[in-house]
Amino acid sequence: MVDYDLQDIQERCRDLILSEEQLVEVKQRLETELNRGLSKEDHEDASVKCFITYVADLPDGTERGNFLALDLGGTNFRVLLIHLGQNCFDMKSKIYAVPQSIMLGTGEGLFDHIAECMANFMEEQGVLYEELPLGFTFSFPCQQEGLTKATLVTWTKGFKCAGAEGKDVVQMLKDAIKRRGDIKIDIMAVLNDTTGTLMSCAYKKHNCRVGVIVGTGANACYVEKLENTGTWKGPRGPKAPQRMVINTEWGAFGDNGVLDFIRTVYDDEIDQNSINPGKQQFEKMISGMYMGELVRLVLVKLVQENLILGGHGSDMLFQRGNFFTKYVSEIEGEKKGEYNSCRMVLEELGLGHANDRDCAAVRYVCECISRRAAFLTSAGVSCLLDRMGESDVTVAVDGSVYRFHPHFHDLMMLKIGELSPHIQFDIMLSEDGSGRGAALVAAVACRLER
Ligand code: GLC
Repeated sequence: MVDYDLQDIQERCRDLILSEEQLVEVKQRLETELNRGLSKEDHEDASVKCFITYVADLPDGTERGNFLALDLGGTNFRVLLIHLGQNCFDMKSKIYAVPQSIMLGTGEGLFDHIAECMANFMEEQGVLYEELPLGFTFSFPCQQEGLTKATLVTWTKGFKCAGAEGKDVVQMLKDAIKRRGDIKIDIMAVLNDTTGTLMSCAYKKHNCRVGVIVGTGANACYVEKLENTGTWKGPRGPKAPQRMVINTEWGAFGDNGVLDFIRTVYDDEIDQNSINPGKQQFEKMISGMYMGELVRLVLVKLVQENLILGGHGSDMLFQRGNFFTKYVSEIEGEKKGEYNSCRMVLEELGLGHANDRDCAAVRYVCECISRRAAFLTSAGVSCLLDRMGESDVTVAVDGSVYRFHPHFHDLMMLKIGELSPHIQFDIMLSEDGSGRGAALVAAVACRLER
């Protein structure tokens, strides 16, 4: 195995490597932002909104029944039919694409599409005439006024459907179903994917208190004491809930400039070319929607400075969006010094002229970007763990980046351990939180209704 001298490349990537002090600073700044989001006076202007989810009861494992679930929030839309039985979790589901034309169309168009997929699915499953309880995982920032009322505050992750912001998405779904007139459903709850992830894990692990998504977007929720939530408008006191799941929406951390001290020229470029400039700054440094593009921007810079590929790029490389986030996982999944996948990726990008040193450099860039994402996520989790102050906590995580990146889990274990040395924690992949979690929140709501 040859070890290449990548000093010049490392020098160029220095800004992407966060020091211990910087991560501690990120963690402290997040703490300040969380407090602002939760405070009655500061909430309005806060960038990290800390929305109240109205999910106060975690599942205890006794939930039973048949449920429908909808999952909208990433590149796909899913409809699920879930049976919760004793020790069993039976699930049928179907994935439907959300075409770009719908993502950028109107709110009505989006919800008509959702209702249509749902009706098709119910017919296929033979439940067209049943009125099943439904949990709706809608993974965008929403101001909730109850379990079944959620006003969309702003679109994220490449969605921009006109006429939906400021509206209650449950009502929009009901209206779309009414327009069709062929199905009936009983919407029990609307929730964020982070909440679903937390619930799905809490069903098995009773010390689960945090749900994290590192997928198309990046976000986390956690269990907060009600006394710390100044924005809670409901009853307080011994008969009121004592705790509440808070959807932090930490993807928007930094939108007020507090992360400028670590943002790089690449982050600026990502932001400026996005459909929501100035928004979701933390998310743009972490999530799968931007990770591959960040790598591409660094590579372009290195080519332009004649530091890799003999100074020769390709049309493909120079075009936005062509370096997929899954490439990062593929390239880093190889043993050090082996470049088969890396070569395949580079060939796909019209860079067949890459030599081994170029491959080593590309891998190095991928590592810088993915480590930074894992460490920033860890700083966030560590902040939540310190805040809750419980001694032994399970953190539920889901999302394509966490799932498919070969080292993300280990990097998080390492960094959270360093940043929160006195807290015992574990990180668990939450199997299909958006689907199961929706059924569980609906189930808990049914249980309480009864
Ligand atoms: C975006 C959404 C947030 C969601 C996250 C992960 O940040 O705003 O609601 O949880 O993506 O899907």
